[in-house]
Amino acid sequence: MNTTTNAKKTVVLVYSGGLDTSICIPLMKEEYGYERVVTVTVDVGQPAEDIAQAADKAKQMGTEHYTVDAKEEFARDFCFAAVKANAMYEGYPLSTSIARPIIAAKAVEVAKKLGAKAFAHGCTGKGNDQFRIEFAIRALMPDAIIHAPIRERNMTRSWEIEYAQQKGVPIKQSLEKIWSIDENLWGRSIEGGRLEEPDFAPPEEIFQWTKSPTAAADKVKELKITFEGGAPVAIDGEKTSPAKLVMLANKIAGDNAVGRIDVMEDRMLGLKVRENYECPGSMLILTAHKALEALVLTRDELRFKASVDAEWSKLAYEGLWWDPLKDGLEAYVAFTQKRVTGTVTLRLYKGSMQVIGRTSPWALYNEDLASFDTKTFEQSESTGTVKNFGLQARMYYSLAEKMKK
Ligand code: ARG
Repeated sequence: MNTTTNAKKTVVLVYSGGLDTSICIPLMKEEYGYERVVTVTVDVGQPAEDIAQAADKAKQMGTEHYTVDAKEEFARDFCFAAVKANAMYEGYPLSTSIARPIIAAKAVEVAKKLGAKAFAHGCTGKGNDQFRIEFAIRALMPDAIIHAPIRERNMTRSWEIEYAQQKGVPIKQSLEKIWSIDENLWGRSIEGGRLEEPDFAPPEEIFQWTKSPTAAADKVKELKITFEGGAPVAIDGEKTSPAKLVMLANKIAGDNAVGRIDVMEDRMLGLKVRENYECPGSMLILTAHKALEALVLTRDELRFKASVDAEWSKLAYEGLWWDPLKDGLEAYVAFTQKRVTGTVTLRLYKGSMQVIGRTSPWALYNEDLASFDTKTFEQSESTGTVKNFGLQARMYYSLAEKMKK
């Protein structure tokens, strides 16, 4: 096989099956001059029918198609990395952003196998994904050539629809879609349509993973999540694989109406966009994880780690998955997570979520020390410490009094 000529002729399209990426197929052939379009769809837990539809469409349009099942790897190496860093952005668990690096990495793997260097993606010029996808591809293949036709040609949705109809691109499902949805194991994000109006209340129909509080069972649900080294390993004592555990967490929390979040999100380019999220499983796991950290880490570790977590989250939001600062932050996170082993009990009820118990072999807690009937904590020894508490503030006030005179 002659890989040199092949490399010029083949383009690997990061393919979701939606309108934007579907019109890239004829565009790559007719406008960008590629002979062979290879489509790659990465399964990170989006609906099975979306994965199947993408494969179908790709076949109909004559591309060479690859579906890569990355669910377990995504859960273990991306979602659980996010758990260890309590990753949130503006009040919701990072989900779309942590899926982009693995999607790009899988596309690069396919390209390397085929000896291709050219890539295409369907990101617009307004969002965050263009940054995340392109950074990841370039980090893993520095000499990659990347095409972003939607952005490069300033396309509008109506132009895309017309072009798709002309070129026989199947778009029936896209036309029926009112909302723009992005979904993976860690969360489901809904935007577009009337949701773009910040004051428009999210209609019930946008939600698929979570019941509304009124429709949820009128019954308290208690459950236990066990962690080892900062990662969840079991629910109610039942050990499962990372992806299955996340799916189960989504089901339990979603059934109890936990995990709906409505935010005004600041995108990387500075645009404010109204987003709705369903993140039942991730909210459940993150809440439990934080409760366990509160039991095992020192006060100073918790305070310092909150700033490490915020830095990690910012890098993850921007898709800088292979950034040296992220590696450095993770080294600290890993040091703390060795102790984040134990079990947290939570109570869910019609949209509310409470931590009601936690245990760990690393608990920095001693019942006798904290108890009112303590025998080992000598109260009278606190006298001197209390007396000197706030010494500098008191000195300041006495000086301020003197200066007034
Ligand atoms: N704004 C979020 C992010 O950048 C989610 C975007 C997801 N896209 C969608 N069509 N809902 O991570």
